[in-house]
Amino acid sequence: MAFSDPFWNMFTYDIGIDLGTANTLVCVRNQGVTISEPSVVAFNSKTKTVLAVGSEAQKMLGRTPASIVAIRPLKDGVISDFDATREMIKYFIEKVHKDSPKFFKIPRPRVVIGIPSAITEVEKKAVIDAAISAGARKVYLIEEPMAAAVGINVPVTEPLGSLIVDIGGGTSDIAVISLGGIVVDKSIRVAGDEMTVDIVNYIRSKYNLLIGERTAEEIKIKLGNAYPRKDNKSMEIKGRDILLGLPKVIKISEVEIREAMSNSLNIIIEAISEALEETPPELISDITNNGIYLTGGGAQISGINKLFLEKLKIPIMIADDPLSSVVLGASKILEDLSLLENISYSDSEEFL
Ligand SMILES: Nc1ncnc2c1ncn2[C@@H]1O[C@H](COP(=O)(O)OP(=O)(O)OP(=O)(O)O)[C@@H](O)[C@H]1O
Ligand SMILES: [Mg+2]
Repeated sequence: MAFSDPFWNMFTYDIGIDLGTANTLVCVRNQGVTISEPSVVAFNSKTKTVLAVGSEAQKMLGRTPASIVAIRPLKDGVISDFDATREMIKYFIEKVHKDSPKFFKIPRPRVVIGIPSAITEVEKKAVIDAAISAGARKVYLIEEPMAAAVGINVPVTEPLGSLIVDIGGGTSDIAVISLGGIVVDKSIRVAGDEMTVDIVNYIRSKYNLLIGERTAEEIKIKLGNAYPRKDNKSMEIKGRDILLGLPKVIKISEVEIREAMSNSLNIIIEAISEALEETPPELISDITNNGIYLTGGGAQISGINKLFLEKLKIPIMIADDPLSSVVLGASKILEDLSLLENISYSDSEEFL
């Protein structure tokens, strides 16, 4: 006999997860977004026990002794370490329930998870299995651009073409949505993380200076930009001189950082152009009228809207809270599962 929802609701929260390469966000039904932490898990390499997850584990990245490994369980938007992904989902499910009056020792939530649109069936099954073994009793998988579109109130079920571009850490997902389905989709493995690597490489080849990824990420957030602006900011950065092997400090300007990031930005623009070429004419006209919606952390790059407008000749709309668009969509779907009747998704069976 299947138990009714009110029965389960006494014991467990339903949650939505944006399982990102860089960040994992979790929302609880009717409570909004409750967790946003980096997607990192730290293990003891000998005993395989989990030492820390999320923000705590992030601090250990690149700073661990031999006995500890801190890893990102997802790469390019898909699971690259199954056990670490399961442990991470488990940690978030437990964290959500920790201070709650719900009294199941092992929470058994229904979980809506955002997945990249280009994911294979095998990769989908890995996400479902990881969530079920972390305690979920049922899993719904929604493609991230669809979830993001729902999250930013795009009318996804109408006969209207909308173009969503989600620039995350591992992937840039480009999707044309109409009538609850994805009509054209493209996912490329060039996004925020690649731009961080671009900065590392640029500084190494121009200044013979080696910097870590955390430093490069900090530079990207502070100076990252896609389009010239009036004031040209700069900052001092520390690294190791490759030739001398000694610490060195240099000053770097935002013009240089724009140059470093431009190749990756152009690859994303090229992929959007290709998606537009594959889009039926009626939908193109909707997109030209309504603009392209930008979500994901990469939407926060200064001047990205100006660069995209110049190159694509279509207005660009940046989401109010680009990092949360996918999880906000998951949250809306949790509040009204009947939304699923009109949009594409896949789900697991219910494990009681
Ligand atoms: N202000 C900013 N300027 C430039 N890049 C930023 C900014 N804020 C965040 N980012 C970048 O956005 C990326 C993270 O975005 P997001 O959280 O949407 O990715 P994700 O969902 O974890 O990844 P994916 O969707 O690929 O699995 C990181 O590469 C981060 O450096
Ligand atoms: Mg994402």
